[in-house]
Amino acid sequence: MKKLRLHSRPVNAVRVTATLFVGFLCFAQQVQAQSDQLKNLMLANNCMACHMIDKRKYGPQFDEISSKYIVNKTAIETLATKIKAGGTGVWGEEPMPPQPHVSDADARTIATLIMALKPKE
Ligand code: HEC
Repeated sequence: MKKLRLHSRPVNAVRVTATLFVGFLCFAQQVQAQSDQLKNLMLANNCMACHMIDKRKYGPQFDEISSKYIVNKTAIETLATKIKAGGTGVWGEEPMPPQPHVSDADARTIATLIMALKPKE
């Protein structure tokens, strides 16, 4: 029994490493899929004119929005409403015009994907 145990240790270590690695790959793939989906929705709804995910344009960059609202429990509702209604004064003086062409479903998905972004350090 003892001998078997000794032998099974390295095997287990390999298994654990492999499992963690596969887990990491799945996670990385999911993150990539989410950011592709966000970019497609931004393109389809004309957000790219003013926003980028990780660079400041006319409007705030999306990973900074994620950082700012991370402690806000109603972030998704708040952002989805703002995406359609527009507004000003949260990030500065520049106004975001209303975006009535965005469907409720898209506004909610975009808000959810923004909050799923890795917050900017
Ligand atoms: C004409 C430029 C412009 C366009 C187009 C635009 N935005 Fe904005 N957006 C802004 C500005 C400016 C702000 C900052 C407003 C503020 O300070 O309250 C902003 C803020 C935001 C915020 C943060 C809201 C908050 O209160 O913190 C989100 C989320 C957002 N925009 C998403 C979008 C999405 C999604 C689209 C596309 C459907 C879009 N924006 C299109 C200019 C734009």
